[in-house]
Amino acid sequence: MSASLATVSYIGATILFILSLGGLSSPESSRRGNLYGIIGMTIAVVATVFGPRVTMGGLPWIIMAMAIGGSIGLYAARKVQMTQMPELVALMHSLVGLAACLVGFASYIDTSIEFTGAEKSIHEVEIYLGILIGAVTFSGSLIAFGKLSAKIGGKPMLLPGRHWMNLAGLLVVLWVGHSFLNAETAGGGAFALIVMTVIALAFGVHMVMAIGGADMPVVVSMLNSYSGWAAAATGFMLSNDLLIVTGALVGSSGAILSYIMCRAMNRNFISVIAGGFGTGGGTVVTAADGQPAGEVTPISALETAELLKDSKNVIIVPGYGMAVAQAQHTVYEITKFLREKGVNVRFGIHPVAGRMPGHMNVLLAEAKVPYDIVMEMDEINDDFPSTDVTMVIGANDIVNPAAQEDPNSPIAGMPVLEVWKSKTSIVMKRSMASGYAGVDNPLFYKENNRMLFGDAKKMLDEVLTALKA
Ligand code: TAP
Repeated sequence: MSASLATVSYIGATILFILSLGGLSSPESSRRGNLYGIIGMTIAVVATVFGPRVTMGGLPWIIMAMAIGGSIGLYAARKVQMTQMPELVALMHSLVGLAACLVGFASYIDTSIEFTGAEKSIHEVEIYLGILIGAVTFSGSLIAFGKLSAKIGGKPMLLPGRHWMNLAGLLVVLWVGHSFLNAETAGGGAFALIVMTVIALAFGVHMVMAIGGADMPVVVSMLNSYSGWAAAATGFMLSNDLLIVTGALVGSSGAILSYIMCRAMNRNFISVIAGGFGTGGGTVVTAADGQPAGEVTPISALETAELLKDSKNVIIVPGYGMAVAQAQHTVYEITKFLREKGVNVRFGIHPVAGRMPGHMNVLLAEAKVPYDIVMEMDEINDDFPSTDVTMVIGANDIVNPAAQEDPNSPIAGMPVLEVWKSKTSIVMKRSMASGYAGVDNPLFYKENNRMLFGDAKKMLDEVLTALKA
């Protein structure tokens, strides 16, 4: 393929990537957005592999690597559960970081292109920054993978003097960078690169280890952004314009997403990075004296069905537990039944419900719930006082009134769905265990709240049977 055809293909791929991002901004257009992305990536790969910079001798290696990588990717994507998606994404980010490091070292060792003067310095800065961002992304993403898959505890690891350690690391990286740029020999330069890589790897581990469970969503999108900048840095090293543009798109969209999530959780970005918020979830939280924090009122599936039948307005608030139980299809069956009986059923979606952005929207779309009854938190929060029954399905942190009522709560200030304002709220979960942030939920003990204990799918099946009886 000629150089000009490759350039035209790259421009086409860039446009498709931008259209893809635009498409992914709403559920209706997301399939189209995905399709644009697939076509863009296919064009990009074909134009690169058959482009002017790949020799015939290199082709079999590339095809072999693509076959191996593609098969692993295909297997992982088919096998992964929706709830494990953030872990897979974190693992993928680590590969982008690793690639940036390897390309950086390869570019440094490669002597086939001679750089002189200012060009040489620019090339070396690209290599240094590329490896730096790549190494932080690589080790940080591996730790994020460990935390998200519960292989490492969610509790923040707060070393004494950690900010000073980070500052010292930064100063050493700057100093080593200076000696790298002024290295007399290739060996001296390589040594400086290795020292910086080790510090960057340690920094990545330290940074994510210090971040508590409750902030992990922001960390995943932040690492997403880093992986974009690592890809852009790789693009600079390889003088590949498409990689620069694509990396910048991923980098900036990840940064915007991190900002939106911080706002949704009322956290500021700096305090997320500084770490130390939230613990591992799944523990039963008790009051200070070790006793259960209050009395709860249980409800049966039959009674839930009766309440729903007698309601005019119902709001369903899904959370992580609905995804675990794969209850979305039964949720839709219940919604359909109630709507046919004239009940106004709507869904309230918190921006960080579940374990990844848009998690609930994807599940509800899969179950064919109409988009027009799926509301964002801000759109529906004022409607709870006029709601007869709110069904909270496997959600916990996102409906925790402590965020508003207890200034000492670790989640104080986080915007939440005000389900306790409805006439009756019914929380469906298996036990009294805490959610992801590991904090108690006073909602469970409120007078107008009922607890429907059990697996969400099983309980909803029973509710549906009772409704239809
Ligand atoms: P959580 O607060 O994690 O609560 C989920 C609840 O579901 C748990 O308390 C659990 O209680 C219940 N559950 C689990 N399996 C269930 C099953 N099979 N049937 C019924 N219930 C089940 O979830 P949330 O309210 O959706 O809030 C999300 C949390 O995750 C936030 O803290 C958020 O910051 C964090 N987070 C979000 C993201 C993104 S981007 N969305 C990413 C990472 C972390 P039982 O064990 O008692 O059943």
